[in-house]
Amino acid sequence: MTVQEFCAQYYVDRKGTHSQKWDALLRKFGDSNLLSMWVADMEFKTPQPVIDALAKRVEHGVYGYSDVPNSYYDALNKWEQEHYGYRIEKEWVRFSPGIIPALYWFVNMFTEEQESVIVMTPVYYPFLNAVKDNGRKLITCDLDYKDGIFTVDYERFEKLITDNDVKLFILCSPHNPAGRVWTEEELERMLDICQKHKVLVISDEIHQDIIAPGFRHIPSAIVARGKYASNIITANAPSKTFNLASCLHANIIIQSPVIRAIYDAFIKRYYQAETNLFGITAAEAAYTYGETWRQDLLKVIYSNYSYVKEQMTEYPGIHVCPLEGTYLLFMDLRAYIKPDQIKEFIQDECRLACDYGEWFGEKWRGFIRMNVATHPNFVKQAVDSIKKELKIIKTINGVNTEKK
Ligand SMILES: Cc1ncc(COP(=O)(O)O)c(C=O)c1O
Repeated sequence: MTVQEFCAQYYVDRKGTHSQKWDALLRKFGDSNLLSMWVADMEFKTPQPVIDALAKRVEHGVYGYSDVPNSYYDALNKWEQEHYGYRIEKEWVRFSPGIIPALYWFVNMFTEEQESVIVMTPVYYPFLNAVKDNGRKLITCDLDYKDGIFTVDYERFEKLITDNDVKLFILCSPHNPAGRVWTEEELERMLDICQKHKVLVISDEIHQDIIAPGFRHIPSAIVARGKYASNIITANAPSKTFNLASCLHANIIIQSPVIRAIYDAFIKRYYQAETNLFGITAAEAAYTYGETWRQDLLKVIYSNYSYVKEQMTEYPGIHVCPLEGTYLLFMDLRAYIKPDQIKEFIQDECRLACDYGEWFGEKWRGFIRMNVATHPNFVKQAVDSIKKELKIIKTINGVNTEKK
């Protein structure tokens, strides 16, 4: 299916459907009249077999307490094995209503107050909140950044771990918003350091299925042929891939029986609600029948990304970070816009709602994150307005080349 065909078949106008992306702009940005390019969900209907499976379940009419069928575990395992060579046993799998709630649990499960948890910034902001909201010490290891490219400074990472006696590392793989799909070598180096210093790793792999051509996602649990698996909790979900965020369903995969026992004991104390029937139904159908749709979706995402990248080459100094994975494009506008004026530029002049760089860590003020899993017309409109306003700045003020 071409990009045009996909959009014709799956695009939906979400305004007036209580969508946070379109209907909460006033609350979030103080302005309801912006083109919405923020938050990580899509304007596309989930695959038809998922809709059909949900419709069948709705039609049944009884939504009482339900168990997770074996067919769910089979579908999850098949998806992971076929895509990533990751074989998952049923007994390793637990569920949560989302990855972020689970991160909050993990912080409480594996650390005491004031103990240190490390993340690599810039990073999806709930990672920061999960640590701070629980009274733990947040250690941020900034990724190295040069001209749009993010890499890890392993020495800094290790020193921060030893200096702060870090207990837990929340890894984002692929990385939101850096757009990186970590290579096996990069993961091996990070995980090696964690193992050496007995740091437990939570590997958030929610973006695992949104990978650009030429790149390959490797689950942390199978890096170096599973060498680190006993030190890792994997969290993944079909929610980003298939636009199912409100079905509130995520997988927690724990290979180590020791970690599983700690997890189960913690959950027992707080009592875990039953799984969401609709989340399970949607996820199983997506894993089973969603692959063709996903392949078509990837064409839309990476054609939108290529469009932005190509258009912005007109403005050297503005860096569109390579989108190796995820549909969340990070753009460095600091060559033209003073970081403290980014909000005025993006909202008041360009009339866009984007996630701001500083949400992902203060150092990244002057960046924006733009969601390109949307209709190409919106992407074009957003890029046109950024280019138009940049042109005005260039003409009137000259380029702001101040070093930050
Ligand atoms: C890295 C990452 N983790 C987790 C989430 C959200 O997870 P959930 O909706 O399952 O809580 C997002 C959403 O954008 C994300 O980017």
